[in-house]
Amino acid sequence: MKDLYSVDWTFKEARTEPLHSIHPYPAKFIPQIPEKLLELFSPKKNLCILDPFCGSGVTVCVAQKMGYNAIGVDLNPIATLITRVKTTPVADDFLNICDSIVEECKKHEQPVEKKNFPNIDHWFSVDIQYALAILKEQIDVFRDYQNYDALNFCFSSIIVKVSNQDSDTRYAFRDKGKTKTDVLKFFLQSARKLKKNSIKDGTTATILNMNSLHLDDQIPNNIGAVITSPPYPCAYEYWLYHKFRMYWLNYDPIQVRGEEIGARYSYFKKSKYEGYDFAVQMTKLLSYLYDKCVPGAPLCFVIGRSKIHGQIYNNDEIIADIGKSIGYKYIATLTRDMVNSRKSFNLSHARIKVEYIVVLQK
Ligand SMILES: C[S@@+](CC[C@H](N)C(=O)[O-])C[C@H]1O[C@@H](n2cnc3c(N)ncnc32)[C@H](O)[C@@H]1O
Repeated sequence: MKDLYSVDWTFKEARTEPLHSIHPYPAKFIPQIPEKLLELFSPKKNLCILDPFCGSGVTVCVAQKMGYNAIGVDLNPIATLITRVKTTPVADDFLNICDSIVEECKKHEQPVEKKNFPNIDHWFSVDIQYALAILKEQIDVFRDYQNYDALNFCFSSIIVKVSNQDSDTRYAFRDKGKTKTDVLKFFLQSARKLKKNSIKDGTTATILNMNSLHLDDQIPNNIGAVITSPPYPCAYEYWLYHKFRMYWLNYDPIQVRGEEIGARYSYFKKSKYEGYDFAVQMTKLLSYLYDKCVPGAPLCFVIGRSKIHGQIYNNDEIIADIGKSIGYKYIATLTRDMVNSRKSFNLSHARIKVEYIVVLQK
């Protein structure tokens, strides 16, 4: 597959499409990565494309756009909410519904029920708490509406912006001086961006909110390509990044933390570090996928290195070795520079400068 080496996988000049920038998500793919991989391997159109760690759904969206049925799996309920919304058309009355929700919110001074979760008063001013709770109550009136997910997506997208958390990537206190008017204004801005950029129609996308290590017969036996970026150890904590969003949307972040692969928490909670779980987890997943992929299917893993308790782990080599031992053909390890503006991962804090695309084939 010498064509793989003729591509500059850094994609320095690439622009992110607006649909992928409405809702924040850490370590998001740039669409050019799955696009190019699908172009080069061109699986048959009757096969399914799978991302077992779909995050904000970039692989699923790209596959859908290219005419494939796609499957995305993620443990984090915010990830699967985002992916469901990005792969579903938005109805013509969506903006009218959003406007009516906002008008209704303006009539209320207080929510029916005050929201409560640990440290809520530290991270959200009382005014903002009320405004968010009223907005969520009005959104929930539309529980049976076909784009109820899209309403929650817009709500979720503004949570950190109106909180006292410095930014999506900085977990420090900063009173940003936002008001309840901002809550409604940002909600409508998100809604307009979504309506403008949502897909008009497309092939089927199946989105599963579950642990990829516990997959069973949910995945069909006609997977034509796997394109994914696993959550490698000590890089990001997705549950933490979305903690407030999960609380506001009535999910349990602590339960997600317990099952999240690679979360710092699992490496540093133990008084004595007991081993590199990641290799065991990837062996389980790659063995499972072997039965699901058709012969010739490529499996592409975008991954960087981990540093834990001072030791470097080459996750790319670990995946390549596991793949070979299971019976996959090892095709290539491609390198991408993590240039500031065009990285698929936003890991400047972890001083990761390079990431790899490990390509295996059944
Ligand atoms: C690197 S991110 C994927 C980002 C994705 N490529 C995108 O474009 O947005 C890794 C994802 O793995 C998910 N994850 C972590 N542990 C998981 C598990 N046990 N099962 C399924 N997903 C998991 C995280 O929630 C996170 O969304």
